Amino acid sequence: MKRILITGANGQIGSELRETLAAQYGSDQVISIDLNKPAGYDAKKLGVLESVDVTDRQAIEKIIDQYQVGTVFHLVGILSGKGELNPDLAWNVNVSSLKYVLDFAKEKSLRVFWPSSIAVFGPTSPKEQTPQITTLEPTSIYGVTKVAGELLCNYYFNKYRVDVRSLRFPGLISYKTPPGGGTTDYAVEIFYEALKRQAYTSFLKRDTVLPMMYMPDAIRAILELMASPSDDLTIRTSYNLTAISFSVAELATEIQKHIPAFQLSTDPDHRQKIADSWPRSIDDSIARRDWGWRHAFDLSAMTREMLKNLQAQ
Ligand code: SER
Repeated sequence: MKRILITGANGQIGSELRETLAAQYGSDQVISIDLNKPAGYDAKKLGVLESVDVTDRQAIEKIIDQYQVGTVFHLVGILSGKGELNPDLAWNVNVSSLKYVLDFAKEKSLRVFWPSSIAVFGPTSPKEQTPQITTLEPTSIYGVTKVAGELLCNYYFNKYRVDVRSLRFPGLISYKTPPGGGTTDYAVEIFYEALKRQAYTSFLKRDTVLPMMYMPDAIRAILELMASPSDDLTIRTSYNLTAISFSVAELATEIQKHIPAFQLSTDPDHRQKIADSWPRSIDDSIARRDWGWRHAFDLSAMTREMLKNLQAQ
């Protein structure tokens, strides 16, 4: 079997996906790249981790050739909050590196998974049950890079038959990595602070509603999409995908069921504007039809699992 390459492997999705893939295929089949190697990284369990800058085209090619890579999970990305602070970096990391990977995919017949986001939508898209095909006029640079990336994926599929597959993730909630600069990351930070201080000051307003998903659902979605027969897939930009939508206040109320003393306050920052431009709920019926997507975790199950796992940590 040709090996699997994961870029952005230390990130929120990467650190969980590599664990799953290494357990499934063997750690010798999984190659990770990221800027740094975390202290205590267990290569025996998780596979080789190489320090590579994804904006270095030659360095990526070297890894693909050296390890005989057949599938790339190109997860590296600068998220929405951080992207606004450095738009050039967001473009180079999110778009230029994707173009390199798609070019290698064309030349070397690689399969590719690439995560897009609900950030492709903007103020002119419908807010409720946002459809798969609608106006895409994002106002964040992160959203701009994701629209550009989706169009590149679709182009490489149509023109060169590159088997690239993608999901528009909602906010992802997980406990294995610290929150990393996203607008939806309030829904991760809140759990850390609820356990540490029984209080949290949100950078989004109480009534802000966003689509969200617990990480085990997201990992399963990636694996199910990648396992689907190519002919079943009707979307080669990126599939709408969702699980649950809730407001900041609703999440706080759910946490209070476990930690009654928990107090929510708010102090909105520049990310409020980004959140206000995104959908409140998503219509993912095409993913449900094409490859059988079903989410498993609702708000109460996700909250219970987050608190239990973070407490154990
Ligand atoms: N979770 C991402 C962010 O908030 C959206 O894809 O930036």
